[in-house]
Amino acid sequence: MCGIVGIVGDAPVAGRLVDALKRLEYRGYDSAGVATLEDGAIARRRAEGKLGNLASKLGMEPLEGHIGIGHTRWATHGAPTEINAHPHATERVAIVHNGIIENFRELLEDLARDGYRPQTQTDTESVALWVTRELDNGAEPELAVARTLKKLKGAFALAFLFKGEDGLLIAARHGAPLAVGYGTTEMYLGSDAMALAPFTSRLTYLEDGDWAVITPAGVTIRDGKDALVEREQMVSQASALLVDKGNHRHFMAKEIYEQPETISHTLSHYVDMGAEKVAIRETLPFDFADLSRLTMSACGTAYYAGAIAKYWFERYARLPVDIDVASEFRYREPPLEKGGLSLFISQSGETADTLAALRYCTGQGQHVASLVNTLESTIARESGVVFPILCGPEIGVASTKALTAQLTALASLAIAAGRARGVVSAEQETELVRAMTALPSAVSAALAAEAQIMDISKRLSKAKDVLYLGRGAMFPVAMEGALKLKEISYIHAEGYAAGELKHGPIALVDEAMPVIVVAPSDELVDKTLSNMQEVAARGGNIILITDPEGARTVGHGVADIIEIPRVHSFVAPILATIPVQLLAYHTAVFMGTDVDQPRNLAKSVTVE
Ligand code: F6R
Repeated sequence: MCGIVGIVGDAPVAGRLVDALKRLEYRGYDSAGVATLEDGAIARRRAEGKLGNLASKLGMEPLEGHIGIGHTRWATHGAPTEINAHPHATERVAIVHNGIIENFRELLEDLARDGYRPQTQTDTESVALWVTRELDNGAEPELAVARTLKKLKGAFALAFLFKGEDGLLIAARHGAPLAVGYGTTEMYLGSDAMALAPFTSRLTYLEDGDWAVITPAGVTIRDGKDALVEREQMVSQASALLVDKGNHRHFMAKEIYEQPETISHTLSHYVDMGAEKVAIRETLPFDFADLSRLTMSACGTAYYAGAIAKYWFERYARLPVDIDVASEFRYREPPLEKGGLSLFISQSGETADTLAALRYCTGQGQHVASLVNTLESTIARESGVVFPILCGPEIGVASTKALTAQLTALASLAIAAGRARGVVSAEQETELVRAMTALPSAVSAALAAEAQIMDISKRLSKAKDVLYLGRGAMFPVAMEGALKLKEISYIHAEGYAAGELKHGPIALVDEAMPVIVVAPSDELVDKTLSNMQEVAARGGNIILITDPEGARTVGHGVADIIEIPRVHSFVAPILATIPVQLLAYHTAVFMGTDVDQPRNLAKSVTVE
């Protein structure tokens, strides 16, 4: 999932390419590089690690040139070294690539027969070499690219820069996002509208199979069959302002603390506060009352949002729900009833597996709805209905405010479904909406436990393994807590259904194992108490997340109780995500990891 930029310009581009890449660093930060034409010849600077390293290198060894391409990498094939950093180049062509060329070995074998040999371990270099052979055989750049594209298998977005062609970039999209931006005397290219925002808001998203010839005068787009096509030009809403951390040490902390506000903002879209009713503004091409099943798919934290929502839809709308991780769903090819509803949850709207699951459901004649933060994303554009989550750009790689906004929107949809299906009465709707409107202040109160959480996190940072337990809708919260901890602190953690403890994981429990129990007071809390006793009997070190009522009833003898306010059990899972976020955050800070850009991860996973 790398980030790509390009400028065909009339002023030096290197600095501007780096600025645009900064806005794409969420897509990967293993290495970065830019290539320009200096007196018609390809010149490159590349550096291992974050973009700052490339910027320093360019400070010492500047690059001239009014045309160029840039890349920030999330390594797939080949270690994150400088040699494997993009742009990959021969003397004749430089390319940047997001995605995976699945048949690169085959291509390289073919190229080797003609003496074209790779210098790197990447799949990408096979494309540079293939285009070079076409050029060496006398093809013009356009033809060389057109022929090469026909040979490639996999998902990719590509940009090409050619020796001696200071007014020409070629771009291609097959499965990974790419947009062309229009300036007055310049043209641009970027993985998303955010990257292009400082240059232009006028852009065209290429469609799958499209390839584009970009010159200072404009763009010509062809589809996968090389036929000339017109694609819509739109005005992007992406902000040119780079979001900053405010007075927080990390984006993740800022995003955790923004949640009272982001939840309110999402609520204002889904709820009529005056009438205390849910108000879905989107036009629905289906009726919740007629549905026999809801199918949800997502990845990572977005999957846990769906897993929590399953409890809501089943309980409050009596609507059967299937939920699966998109990477499994897409290949399982489940039978789906025509006219059913499939819902895809994705902060970025670009996650490759979620997009593939969506396309499968479209093919099955399902109504396709998505819940996204990025309204211009591919998933949003390919959905029949788009539910926005409105939490603003999320920069920290670990998802926080997007999760609570997703849950706020999903809770609203569950109430709407419950009303339509005659399960939730008008009075109950008001009760549930009131519960939701009480959330922002409850979240603020939950955030006030930070000092205590820091103290616990200091001890957690010494642990090797951590177990999270929860029942009912707290089970996905437990899994989310474990995911958050492992991704930013690198401590091994597992989330389990509390009732499953005795079926295996209890064997792990000893004095060295912190067990975090997420159990606000509800009808299941007594059951969780039995599980806590099983842990305590084996010397396990319990950290209990509960409300004052839970602390009174099940907290006896528990040394660490993190209290959250007592709220309606409907919204309790949303509130319970706050302490697990803070625990993961502070543990990571104590461990000294790179909280906002943890190793091996990227914010937007556009490869499968
Ligand atoms: C975890 C995290 C990831 C994402 C997952 C899906 O903190 O951020 O697990 O939730 O990669 O991403 P989106 O929501 O963009 O589809």
